[in-house]
Amino acid sequence: MPVRQPKPGDLEPIETASRAALSALQLERLKWTLSRAYDNVPQYRRKFDAAGVHPRDVRSLSDLARFPFTTKQDLRDNYPFGMFAVPREEVVRIHASSGTTGRPTVVGYTKADVEVWSTVMARSIRAAGGRAGDIVHVAYGYGLFTGGLGAHYGAERLGATVIPMSGGMTERQVQLITDFKPDIIMVTPSYMLAIAEEMHRQGIDPRSCSLKVGIFGAEPWTPAMRTAIESKLDLDAIDIYGLSEIIGPGVAQECIETKDGLTVWEDHFYPEVIDPDSGEVLPDGEKGELVFTSLTKEALPMVRYRTRDLTRLLPPTARSMRRIEKITGRTDDMLIIRGVNLFPTQIEDLILKQPELTPHYVLEVTRPELMDELTVHVEMGPELANGSQDSRHTAARQLEHHIKGYIGVTTTVRLALPDGIERSLGKAKRVLDKRPKG
Ligand code: DLL
Repeated sequence: MPVRQPKPGDLEPIETASRAALSALQLERLKWTLSRAYDNVPQYRRKFDAAGVHPRDVRSLSDLARFPFTTKQDLRDNYPFGMFAVPREEVVRIHASSGTTGRPTVVGYTKADVEVWSTVMARSIRAAGGRAGDIVHVAYGYGLFTGGLGAHYGAERLGATVIPMSGGMTERQVQLITDFKPDIIMVTPSYMLAIAEEMHRQGIDPRSCSLKVGIFGAEPWTPAMRTAIESKLDLDAIDIYGLSEIIGPGVAQECIETKDGLTVWEDHFYPEVIDPDSGEVLPDGEKGELVFTSLTKEALPMVRYRTRDLTRLLPPTARSMRRIEKITGRTDDMLIIRGVNLFPTQIEDLILKQPELTPHYVLEVTRPELMDELTVHVEMGPELANGSQDSRHTAARQLEHHIKGYIGVTTTVRLALPDGIERSLGKAKRVLDKRPKG
């Protein structure tokens, strides 16, 4: 596969700046952010005062650790606009994430924030191998979700031709990919699989389509899923990370030349990794919960926002900024089945080891009596679906055996017929929690 590596002259100077220059910029921006948060957002002022910290006491980046965390609850408590640090009239855009329960989380952007977002997204697409003149098919949802518009503004900023397709209408996606011949697709990895299937259905070999790069994110996906997608579509599958509270997509991006985790755009988003239980900052290299402080955002400064995503900070490689390891789980997604902690991606990894199965799966958790039980519903590939009862039995028992062996949980595997598992049009829902509430 050809590597579409950006040339050094294409990069912004900060992407290759010295660590000292980067740290100096971060410190200056951190002081600015903390002061603006304290001066303009009552919630921050209350929390800083209660913790006995003041922005003027910050001398070094490590002083940030003395400031209190911000959580989704802070945003909910100040719904909808209470955390904004600028008058509402200066907010040119609102996005929101639906959340599973209650009020959505609302975020806002000034004109300058949209500029920063477009810049980091253009940088991300370039790092993934995109360049001016490319055709970029955006199949992330447009609307309150940040995926579609974030990708759109970044691709335009890079100088690409953008196809604002949004999610859904899968047959149409395939038609436009066939007719417009995009170089790049931006979409969730799970929906990419659904589009590839639709190509098959229409008699098109996905490997023969024009796509050279896929920029995939918004949900956890495993290295095994990368291999599966790359071989199905003959493209480079590159990881993109972000969250609405911090800006949207474009907080961290994998570089095509290394594919070794995601470079955090540290000149705009300052990362820390903490022990999720104690809140202590962990040294680089140790795994914990990712926490971000925005360094340049005007409308919604975020101070030590707890993402709930689990990863570790790694030293820089392709750029001057540090990387995060691929995120394969978040604290909310962790299931505890009879005392064993597990993430859906661990099951995905094992499913993909069996070529007769497909990466379409859903985990059903029930509590028939006192104990939680886990049923893995996974779709069979066509050969197994047409094969003997015996071969199906063997495949299911083998997966149960691997899950028990590698993860330590007893599960029941139920094989579904092709198309038996609902396809996602955006973020895949991997867990069906049928346990009694409360
Ligand atoms: O999902 C923003 C986004 C759009 C990122 C398009 C990438 C591409 P939210 O809806 O606020 O924002 O969800 C953020 O999604 O905290 C992670 O748990 C998860 N997530 C996002 N990207 C990745 C990724 C967008 N590459 C939440 N790998 C985050 C794993 C991811 N999880």
